Amino acid sequence: MLIRNLYLSMDPTQRGWMARDSYLPAVKIGEVMRSFAVGRVETSRHPGFVPGDLVQGMFGWQDYAVVAGEGRGVTKLPAGTPIPLAMSAFGATGLTAYFGLLDVGRPVAGETVVVSGAAGATGSAVGQIAKIKGCRTIGIAGGAEKCAWLTREAGFDAAIDYKSEDVAARLAELCPKGIDIYFDNVGGELLDVALARLAMRGRVVLCGAISGYNATEMPPGPKNYLSLLINRGRMEGFIILDYLHRAGEAIQELAPWIASGQLKDRVDIQEGLENAPKTLNRLFAGENQGKQLLKIAD
Ligand SMILES: NC(=O)c1ccc[n+]([C@@H]2O[C@H](COP(=O)([O-])OP(=O)(O)OC[C@H]3O[C@@H](n4cnc5c(N)ncnc54)[C@H](OP(=O)(O)O)[C@@H]3O)[C@@H](O)[C@H]2O)c1
Repeated sequence: MLIRNLYLSMDPTQRGWMARDSYLPAVKIGEVMRSFAVGRVETSRHPGFVPGDLVQGMFGWQDYAVVAGEGRGVTKLPAGTPIPLAMSAFGATGLTAYFGLLDVGRPVAGETVVVSGAAGATGSAVGQIAKIKGCRTIGIAGGAEKCAWLTREAGFDAAIDYKSEDVAARLAELCPKGIDIYFDNVGGELLDVALARLAMRGRVVLCGAISGYNATEMPPGPKNYLSLLINRGRMEGFIILDYLHRAGEAIQELAPWIASGQLKDRVDIQEGLENAPKTLNRLFAGENQGKQLLKIAD
């Protein structure tokens, strides 16, 4: 199949793909930069796809992608789903929020859920899903505008601006009985502060650690990890790729929440393939307002 790329997904993990082998091999110098994308089939010798089909897969930072063989890893967009929605709430970040919170964090109604990177694509979905499941939700994000969006639009019970507030003091005030689930998108200092406030049988969901992705040396580990021992807690990581076969199950539950407005999906669309590196950097500068996409063709 020959695919015309239309939208590229910008994801913090791409920074890691450039740097080292991890859950996927590193992208080597001279290779096409790996990324999720949505494109349109232009020509096809695959019986399951015809020209005009909208498809998603790891098509990379390029105008056109050729998918050989059985077309593995290429899926059709559900008919009628807007492309940005398919790449945000119904895409990797929405699924990450859904499975990370529900499968790894296992929230129970009435519990207190704290999420870092809360105004981002993954974090904002985590907090809203936790709320729908009957939890108290507290978001940690950078800046007054993002914090106001969390409480006014996304229905979080409280928001903490880590750039201007004392996070430990605010968590002590907002979580007097401790944190039942800390959904970690940021790592570093914030993870340490959250560990120190873990409730009995608290869970830390290791989703990401964006604060360290640009570090040239490995940052020190969390000094408050013994809180897991004292509180009989659990800290568990996950990779969304392991859940992609269950995407349908998640979308079935997410779709009515989106339709009813219970789950607000913010998308930030930049334009032009030549702006790909600049657009990826927006994630690290906190400039993105929700899921970061790059539109490269109509
Ligand atoms: N485990 C998985 O399978 C999986 C899948 C998808 C994503 N993830 C992880 O989930 C996290 C969020 O990804 P996303 O795609 O949803 O991106 P995002 O949250 O939409 O964007 C990244 C956000 O991170 C925040 N940030 C950047 N540098 C920071 C720093 N030094 N300290 C604190 N916050 C910082 C910024 O928000 P502020 O303005 O609030 O600082 C920025 O908007 C990332 O860690 C990513 O690697 C994991």
